[in-house]
Parts: sequence; C-alpha cells; structure tokens
Amino acid sequence: MRIFVTGASSGIGRSLVLQLVDEGHQVWGVGRRKCSLAGLEKIKDNPNFRYEECDIEKNESNADVLQKMHDAGFMPDVVVLNAAIDLEDKMPVLDATQSAKMMRTNYDGAFFWVSQFIEPFLKRGAGQFIAISSIFSRWPDARSVSYSASKAALSMLFRGLRGRYRDSGLDFKLINLGPVDTPINPRFEEGDKQVSLVVASATDTAQFITRSLQKNGSDFYFPFYIGCVMRFLGWLPDRIFELLTAPFKR
Ligand SMILES: NC(=O)c1ccc[n+]([C@@H]2O[C@H](COP(=O)([O-])OP(=O)(O)OC[C@H]3O[C@@H](n4cnc5c(N)ncnc54)[C@H](OP(=O)(O)O)[C@@H]3O)[C@@H](O)[C@H]2O)c1
Repeated sequence: MRIFVTGASSGIGRSLVLQLVDEGHQVWGVGRRKCSLAGLEKIKDNPNFRYEECDIEKNESNADVLQKMHDAGFMPDVVVLNAAIDLEDKMPVLDATQSAKMMRTNYDGAFFWVSQFIEPFLKRGAGQFIAISSIFSRWPDARSVSYSASKAALSMLFRGLRGRYRDSGLDFKLINLGPVDTPINPRFEEGDKQVSLVVASATDTAQFITRSLQKNGSDFYFPFYIGCVMRFLGWLPDRIFELLTAPFKR
C-alpha cells in the first residue's frame, strides 16, 4: 500500500513509518524537523520511503509537499493523520496564541489533508483516512484544555465524514489512544513506576495502528483497557475521571 503519515519524525509516527517500510509499504512521511533529526537513519535511503519537512499548521507548507507528491506520482491509499502538539497551559491564565496553534496543528492540519485527498479517493471509490485521537476526546484535560478540545473536534470531524461519505467506499477510522511513552507529554517520563503499568510503548502502539489498516471497523482503542473505559464508562462525570487519572498528571 501507499501510505502518507503526518508526524513521522518522533514517537508513534516514527515507529509507524519504520514498521510500514519494513513490511514493504511505500511510505511518505512529514514533520517539521529535518530528516537528519528525525531518527529515521534506518530507512532514509530506502526507495520505498520519502520524508519531507512540512509544517502542517501552514497551508503553504502543506501545498508545497502536495505538489512534490504530485510530481513524484505518489497518490496514497491510506492517510494517517498523526501529527499533533500538546502544549501545557500556563497557569493560571489562558494563552489564546498557544490554543490557536494547537487547533491549527491538531485539527486544521488534519482537515487540510482530508480535503486534498477526498476527491481522488471518491473518484477511485476507495481510500482510508486514519485519525490518531485520544481518550481526551471524550473527557477534558484540565491542564491542557485546548488539546482535549482539538481531539474532540478531530473525532467529531471523522464521525461527520463517515455520515457524509457513507457508501462511498472510503473509510474514516479513529484510533483512540491512552497514554503512550513519547515526548509529547512530559507527564509520562521514564522511571515513574506509577504510570508504567498503564502507559503503552510507541512501538506497540504503532503495531496496533498497522494492524488496524487491514481491519474493518471505524473505532479502535489502544491499549485494550482504553476501549473498556471509553465504550462502557463513557458516562463517567468529568470530576470522577479527573480524580481517577490524577496520579498520571504532570
Ligand atoms: N503520547 C500520548 O500519550 C498520546 C496519547 C493519545 C494520543 N496521542 C496522539 O498520538 C499522536 C502522535 O503523538 P506522539 O505521542 O507520538 O507525540 P510526538 O512524539 O511529540 O510526535 C508528534 C509528531 O507530530 C509532529 N508535528 C507536530 N507539530 C507539527 C506540525 N506543525 N507540522 C508537522 N508535524 C508536526 C512532530 O514532528 P516535528 O516536531 O518534527 O514537527 C512529531 O513527529 C498525536 O496525534 C497525539 O495526540 C498521543
């Protein structure tokens, strides 16, 4: 398959592109940092892999990469919308600039890529969009309020798209994750024994995403307990959720 992955330069996205290339897929990854700083030495010269610097916050940067994909004749079968930022709120005030940046990256950046590939996918009658969402799309994160708002928006976008393009042959899959050991979130730093039981590794998470490409279904949960919490305890009031997850806060 041909697979486009945003946020390929760190954490889950990096593990994902390493696995996908290893499995023989043709992969195009993007991130803001240079390829030399993305930890992708193992695959950077592989003919099945291409990496481009791209700031998905900025439409000019996205359009530049889109043109390069067009020039290279790369039309993906799968688009993985993985790039995101989770900026800690500066207590006790609210920072509108920081919030806008998070929404532009986590929501607008994903929307852009869906909007660019929807037409060719519809013409072909096939194609998968995969959004990496979070348990924070269901409950708020009082320490990073716009992060959870951005993930709720992303999840709602995908639910809307499923209805809009029903019976079109397109898939809009949501991967709902619990805490994963990546640099996005300093609260899960190594050595914290309290969190080690519930925090997944980036490699295991990427393996789960890879498997979901081949599966039918719309909503996926990882690790397993996140599925139980989101499906069966969705009614939990915000305050109870906050108390239960308090040990894992920054
Ligand atoms: N880690 C968790 O606990 C957790 C839990 C639930 C959901 N998630 C979701 O999992 C996904 C991957 O996050 P991660 O945990 O792997 O974090 P990460 O290690 O910080 O990776 C985030 C990736 O997004 C890229 N990125 C950020 N802003 C970008 C921009 N403006 N343009 C292009 N790329 C950008 C980063 O690359 P550059 O810095 O090079 O731009 C990086 O490759 C995110 O959607 C996150 O919300 C994570």
